[in-house]
Amino acid sequence: MTSVTCTAPVNIAVIKYWGKRDTQLILPTNDSLSVTLSQDILHSKTSISANKEYAHDRLWLNGKEEDITKNKRMHNCFRETRALRRRMEDEDSSLVPLSTYPLHVCSENNFPTAAGLASSASGLAALVFTLAKLFNLPNSMTDLSRIARQGSGSACRSLFGGFVAWEMGSEADGSDSRAVQIAPDTHWPELEALVCVVSDAKKGTSSTSGMQQTIESSPLMKERLQIVPGRMEAMKKAILNKDFQAFAELTMRDSNQFHSVCLDTFPPIFYLNDTSRGIIQLIHEYNAANGGVYKAAYTYDAGPNAVIYASKEDMKEIIQLIAHYFPPSEEKKSTYFTDPYNVLQSKDSLGARPAINEQFNTSVIPVYPPGSVSRLLHTKVHDGPRVLSENESLLNADGTPSRL
Ligand code: DP6
Repeated sequence: MTSVTCTAPVNIAVIKYWGKRDTQLILPTNDSLSVTLSQDILHSKTSISANKEYAHDRLWLNGKEEDITKNKRMHNCFRETRALRRRMEDEDSSLVPLSTYPLHVCSENNFPTAAGLASSASGLAALVFTLAKLFNLPNSMTDLSRIARQGSGSACRSLFGGFVAWEMGSEADGSDSRAVQIAPDTHWPELEALVCVVSDAKKGTSSTSGMQQTIESSPLMKERLQIVPGRMEAMKKAILNKDFQAFAELTMRDSNQFHSVCLDTFPPIFYLNDTSRGIIQLIHEYNAANGGVYKAAYTYDAGPNAVIYASKEDMKEIIQLIAHYFPPSEEKKSTYFTDPYNVLQSKDSLGARPAINEQFNTSVIPVYPPGSVSRLLHTKVHDGPRVLSENESLLNADGTPSRL
């Protein structure tokens, strides 16, 4: 048996992907750009073993066996990576014919799936990266990104760490629709992120169907497609110059525009809720109180959770601010904020309003009911997929899941 275990990170777009020009090959209607968040905090972990004795391909997702034949997108990733392996085997007969062996795949996320926390991105990136390692494929990450893209569009960006663009391309076969790294994670170490988990619930409209509804019915979307190319250039420049002012404004504007085209979809799609909007108002007031110099930028994917980008030096204040206006419920107090990077000294009580300057209008929003935000995850910009050691496998030697 040959077995490999890897993890892949979550990425959060600052210029959003929304809309496909080809739903089969997953080719987007615009370029997008994302930031890769640390796998130490959020990741998908996948183990794959190949064995000629297995009866057929099998898949366990978050502890539950799924019918792999029903998952067309995963199937595409299997087909493409197997084809690359087969080519190697055809050229070198000494290679083990892994391309013909059935596979067992076991994958889990360390965070709630389908809550707008980009679980499909890290999950499909982990699948493709692990398959590539298992098959010993010599292909570049950009090559692999074309395959991951066919699993889930945003997954192509999770193959790289740091700052990553997905170039939409123009070829009908998708050969030029791929991810490229704009800058590595070490480029801008001061930039950090705070994920505010607003709801653990599964979302109503999936990204996949939501974006097609937008393409079909939103006149505003045509306007957005004119705007994104300029934003992409400005965003790349902001990142390369580590210009937080430009980065923050573009990030917030693009998130707002994405949710505007959702509202302009007919019937409309709502991903933000009252808590999400409260966080938006709070961040704008926080920035305004700083003389309009941005200290924080919010962004939202296809769900109500906020991701706040800010500089390391302001993170403590921002965590205290969010915790004051969106306090934990009594039951979830211990898991609300676990402080992985030790930003709070023990004397700092979470929940007391931080001493923000006098300009700050304390009544900008009310203090929300406890539990409106269930968790705060402090994280950083970090690396791409990692290969783990054999003893971290999710599969036993006989190919069964180790934790069922
Ligand atoms: C709002 O990649 O989940 O997160 O390609 O249909 O699988 P499919 O969609 P998906 O869409 C993500 C949309 C987004 C924005 C983004 O990540 O760029």
